[in-house]
Formats: sequence, structure tokens, C-alpha cells
Amino acid sequence: MQLDVFTLVPHAFAWLTEQRPVAAVLGSELDLRLFSYRDTTPLRAGQVDDEPYGGGAGMVLRVDAVAAALEAAYGGKPDHRVVALTPQGRQLTQAVVEELALEEHVTLLSARYEGFDERIVEHLCTDSISIGPYVLSNGDLPAMVLVDAIARRLPGALAEGSGELESFSPDLDGKLEYPHYTRPAEFRGWPVPDVLLSGDHGKIDRWRKEHVR
Ligand SMILES: C[S@@+](CC[C@H](N)C(=O)[O-])C[C@H]1O[C@@H](n2cnc3c(N)ncnc32)[C@H](O)[C@@H]1O
Repeated sequence: MQLDVFTLVPHAFAWLTEQRPVAAVLGSELDLRLFSYRDTTPLRAGQVDDEPYGGGAGMVLRVDAVAAALEAAYGGKPDHRVVALTPQGRQLTQAVVEELALEEHVTLLSARYEGFDERIVEHLCTDSISIGPYVLSNGDLPAMVLVDAIARRLPGALAEGSGELESFSPDLDGKLEYPHYTRPAEFRGWPVPDVLLSGDHGKIDRWRKEHVR
């Protein structure tokens, strides 16, 4: 899968690319490319945003700067999904992640300050996604959230078996996973449920099914 992220801070993604699962699939199942709007802006001095028409605080990401960045990367209208990360977008769920992970090529657009000139979302994007009903300072964390969530759905991202039985997965009927425990078996008088120490895998499976939330 090809994931392209357009941002003002490509270097901020260095951390993400060193972490599993992204690191595990980079160069094989995942090709992650980072683009800076500043590298291709037609405006002087790397300008990419401007004051809002109608007045008010903050700066707005310019449509000509984003169009130039997409044109430079794709040489025309992209024939794949281009996603604006914005609080006004479709709310991110595991179902949306699964849907995107099936695509061969996805582009993510990050904004900052007041956000996108609306014409970017309307004319240059196919989708808009919000990672939750709250406001972050920029779209870079939302882009990283999506890259991570998509990467863990790609073949080879996770250890065998650990990707199927997860919260929100069909194997758990979309519900939340049962609780996990590890050593010590008792800590400050807080015991691990006896059944998990019993070695009886039938009982353990039943307990886990009963504790899906
Ligand atoms: C400070 S926010 C803009 C908020 C906008 N003025 C509003 O009131 O909805 C700047 C940028 O951060 C990103 N962003 C912030 N919160 C987000 C969220 N919940 N989901 C996705 N992107 C978000 C978007 O790219 C947004 O354009």
C-alpha cells in the first residue's frame, strides 16, 4: 500500500516510522511518503496559508498551495482517495480503518491553525475524516493515528494471531476485548482470576468470551 502524507512538518513523522507496526511493514507492505506543502508552494518565501476572508483570527491553508503540492506529486488529478483530516470529517472508526487499509493508494492532508480553505475539501479531496469530537492543533497527530491504524491491518504488521482477536474486530462481534493479566499472580492483594491460572483452555476460552465487553 502507498500512503502519502502532506504536512508542514514531515520530520515529525520520524518517530512513527521507527515504531512497530509501521516499522515492520515499511519497505514491504507499506510505502510511506511525506511531502511538505512548502516544497512546492507557488507563493514566495514558502508561504502556504493566509488570513481568512471575512476577517477573524488565525490562518487558513491556501487552496493554490495544496493544489500545487498534489500536482507536483501526481502530475494531475489523483486517481486514488485523498483524505482531508478535519474535525468536520466523517468520524474515524475501526470500520473506516479497515476500508482504507484495503486501498492500494491513499493520500492524507494535514492542516493547522484555522484549517483548510473549504475548496480544498470540496474539490481536491474525496473524503474528510475526523479522529474524534475534539480539536487538535494540527492534522499531524490525526495523520499518524491513521497511518498506525492502517499499518497494523497490513500483512506482516503484527505477530501471527494478534491482529484478529482485537477490540472492534468481527471475531469479537465488534465489541471490546476481554481483560488481560500477567505476572505477578497477586499484587497488593489484587489477584488474577483463578481460571486464568488453571491451565484449562476450555474454561479460559469461556471466561474470555464472557468478559468481552
Ligand atoms: C486547530 S484545527 C482547526 C479547527 C477548526 N478551526 C475548527 O474549529 O473546526 C487545525 C487542523 O488540525 C487538524 N485537526 C484538529 N482536530 C482534528 C480532529 N479531531 N480530527 C482530524 N483533524 C483534526 C485539522 O487538519 C485542522 O484543520
